[in-house]
Amino acid sequence: MIIYFQAFTNKKVGGIIMDWGMKNRLSRIIRPKTGHAVMLAVDHGYFLGPTTGLEHPWKTIEPLAEYADCLMLTRGVLRNCIPPEIDLPIVLRVSGGTSILGPELLHEGITNSIEDSIRLNVSGLAFSIRVGAEFERDTLLGFSEIVDMGEEYGIPVLAVTAVGKEMTRDARYMALASRIAAELGAHIVKTYYVDGFEKVVDSCPVPIVIAGGKKIPEPDALKMAYDAIQAGAVGVDMGRNIFQSENPVAMIQAVRAIVHDGVNPQEALEVFNSIRQGSD
Ligand code: R5P
Repeated sequence: MIIYFQAFTNKKVGGIIMDWGMKNRLSRIIRPKTGHAVMLAVDHGYFLGPTTGLEHPWKTIEPLAEYADCLMLTRGVLRNCIPPEIDLPIVLRVSGGTSILGPELLHEGITNSIEDSIRLNVSGLAFSIRVGAEFERDTLLGFSEIVDMGEEYGIPVLAVTAVGKEMTRDARYMALASRIAAELGAHIVKTYYVDGFEKVVDSCPVPIVIAGGKKIPEPDALKMAYDAIQAGAVGVDMGRNIFQSENPVAMIQAVRAIVHDGVNPQEALEVFNSIRQGSD
């Protein structure tokens, strides 16, 4: 069966023919009701170890799960920390192989077989690419292999446009990295919000979600999420700005209100404050 993808995003990507399984999995990540997605990123340990707020993954994830559209994590945390009865789609990180302590940070390769991803019943695969930096070729070719695997079994692939400390984060770079990811077959691109984000979205033919980046004050993180959605992002794949918030449950609901309900940053902050005060 063939079917069209356009209905599930607010981007004009008409004409792309997509297999039923691929479309079904994508619709579990980008929710058809609003065409948007709140992905909860909890994969940081794959190169950072026990990241602040994720020392005990399930303790962090459990109260947030009902407000997330999907979880992005590694197979180790999935198998060891997440109850298999959970009713939440999984986007599995399948790149890694380096650490914050090693000499080749972000020189990532494929960490999982496609068979294991299928065994884990995942709805998507995530792989980091490193455009414009050392190891670029290796990561882009590794990513392409993952796209081949995903296409073979109808599993969408999210490209994470990793940015090294030394690299300029501007719209020109993010547009270039996002477009290359899409050209190589990404079904969703995860990148960072920057000024002029409309340019990034406009020149990328597949849906874009933003990472949250380092923890910033809640009002700033909410404004960033709002600005990204206004610029055409389909959602967020946010981690630290949710689970390191002074009130993660309030924060994810405030982010959700922006992504799915279209509230502005001030209204979202009111959501955050009212839930936070209610839980004091
Ligand atoms: C980094 O490559 C990981 O994929 C993180 O999951 C990602 O950066 C999103 O998390 P955060 O919102 O904390 O930046």
